[in-house]
Amino acid sequence: MDLDPVSLTIVTYPDPILRQKAEPIGEITSTIRAVGEKMIELMHQADGVGLAAPQVGLSWRMFVTVISQDKQAETIPGRIYINPEITIENRELAILEEGCLSLPDIRGDIRRSIAVTLNALDPDGNPFSMTDDDFMSRIWQHELDHLNGVLIIDKMNPMDRIAVRKALKELDATTIKG
Ligand code: CO
Repeated sequence: MDLDPVSLTIVTYPDPILRQKAEPIGEITSTIRAVGEKMIELMHQADGVGLAAPQVGLSWRMFVTVISQDKQAETIPGRIYINPEITIENRELAILEEGCLSLPDIRGDIRRSIAVTLNALDPDGNPFSMTDDDFMSRIWQHELDHLNGVLIIDKMNPMDRIAVRKALKELDATTIKG
């Protein structure tokens, strides 16, 4: 694969890759592991808590997150999830404000399931399963949306959508200027 993980950067709206449904990862190669490590680095540089492969221009079903809400206390820099799937545990929903590293200056209230179970492969190809009903649950759902081409602007209520209209237009204009 002709891909240098070092050269990856975070892509922003309206890059069309953010709207594609990402492809499952087959064999987990050293390149894929290196991309995961680079994504963790980019996530921390941008002061984010999660980052999905389409956000670095790769239409792969992979994302990374911090390990816990207390980033300062972390000894492990981040976690890599390959081919992740989410099962919703019950009907309970919660609303919380979210931002997105691919949508600078845009924030909005997003309704999501509270308790979910995540199944994925780690970078060695081993399956793992985690359940959460708090901070990580919300990040997993946000990042999984990215793998399906879904952004927070699609899930905002009409009031928030109107409020961010100007910021979205500016992002569009920035891209056209190159
Ligand atoms: Co995002």
